[in-house]
Formats: sequence, structure tokens, C-alpha cells
Amino acid sequence: MTVQETKLQDLPIDLKRELLPKHVAVIMDGNGRWAKRQGLPRIMGHKAGVDALKDLLRCCKDWGIQALTAYAFSTENWKRPQEEVDFLMTLFQRVLRQELREMVEENVQIQFVGNLQALPRSLQREISRSMEETRNNPGIRFTVATNYGGRQEIIQACRAIAEKVQQGLLQPHEINEQVFESHLYTAGIADPDLLIRTSGEMRLSNFLLWQMAYGEMYITETLWPDFDRTEFHRALCAYQRRERRFGKV
Ligand code: FPP
Repeated sequence: MTVQETKLQDLPIDLKRELLPKHVAVIMDGNGRWAKRQGLPRIMGHKAGVDALKDLLRCCKDWGIQALTAYAFSTENWKRPQEEVDFLMTLFQRVLRQELREMVEENVQIQFVGNLQALPRSLQREISRSMEETRNNPGIRFTVATNYGGRQEIIQACRAIAEKVQQGLLQPHEINEQVFESHLYTAGIADPDLLIRTSGEMRLSNFLLWQMAYGEMYITETLWPDFDRTEFHRALCAYQRRERRFGKV
């Protein structure tokens, strides 16, 4: 291991451990543009994006961040060219199969959120297997949003609650934030403290609409495949400089 690697593995000294976000979420944008700049097909950008995600997961683990959530595929992403959609589905499946053993060894607990029933059967099987095999792992909680849409998530939660009311299992006055949250895909997962979006876009793009009510956003011009530990360090420094007031003065 080189001196540089040793240094990067530890939490940088200018970051305060007690002020680290507990949960970081990422919108991994810019894979296509990254590939284009290198004169490569778009799909190569997604491949490089997987490496950046793996590095970030390892970095969160090294630096003591408890949860990472990544927006891998939105409900709107089906509108991309069929070839790219097929590539992404195969990529998710392959990465899961290849990385499962390491995730088990590293105590990662992996979860998927989204409308998973609409995904290819073989991918669904791989998803179930990875969630099952890492269910009791005490390490970092890694959530992958796949076929995820924040509005759809809210609608399905409303439907589930309405059904309970219809069956007399729940009274309308009993519906509160806690009850509502327990019907979201992310039930049991704390809200993100920090959402990072790469490639300069300043939008939430239907990601974690409810959960980001008080989350801090950090936008960088860097394209996702180039988002490395140095970039993450920069994002965490910016986060630690902010004052989170949650509506108070
Ligand atoms: C956005 O870039 C990226 C995606 C829609 C896919 C992100 C997926 C990965 C990085 C793979 C993750 C893998 C696992 C197993 C979790 P874009 O294509 O919109 O880029 P552009 O805006 O430059 O066109």
C-alpha cells in the first residue's frame, strides 16, 4: 500500500467524526457524458460508474459513515434506448453476483428499494438472494434504488394505508408521519443527511421526495465516474460547514 493510499483510507484530519452525515445518498449522474468525452459508448460510462460506486461504498465504510443509498435506476429510465436499459439490467445482475461474497465478508447489508416486481425475473432472484444473505450483517447499510420513483412510492404508501383504513385496521386520525413512513419503500431506513448529485444538475429528479425534507444537498460539476475520495472529502467538508436548523432559528 502506498503512502497516499494509507492516507486516504483514514478519515481526513479536517473532518470531525461527530459531524459526519450518518446517511449519504447519491444521484450518480453524468455516466453518458463521461463516456462521450472519452470517445466511448454510453454503456462504458455505466461500467465506470459501478467502479466509482464501489469505491464510495468502501470509503463510507473506512470513514465510518453508517448508510449509503444510490439511485441506480429511476422509473423514468425505462424511456432510454432499449439497448441501454438491457445493458443496465444485465450490469446490475452481474455486479450483484460478482460482489456478493465481498459484501458478505465486509459485513455490508444490502437492500433494494423501488418497484422491484417490474424488474427482469433473473435480476429479482439475484436481488432477493443478496438481501437474504446480507440481512443480518452489522456493517454499512447499502440501499440501491432500482425502478424507484418518489411519487410512485408515496402513491403506493397511500394505497396501502387506504386499504388498512377500509378494512378497519387503521383510523384516519391515527395516520401520522411515523405511520406514513412505515409504508414507504424505505421503512426502517433513516432519512439521508446529505444527498450528493454529480454532473451539475440541480434537481431531485423524483428521488427520495419525502425522505429529503430536511436533507442537505451538495451538487458538483464532476461527472459520476470521476467522483472519487477527494471529491467525497470535498462534499463532506462543505456539509460540515453547514448549519442544520430543521426549521428552528
Ligand atoms: C446516470 O447517468 C446514471 C444511470 C442512470 C445509471 C447509474 C447506474 C450505475 C452507476 C450502476 C450501479 C450498479 C449497481 C449494481 C448498483 P446518465 O446516463 O444519465 O449520464 P448523462 O446524464 O451524462 O447522460
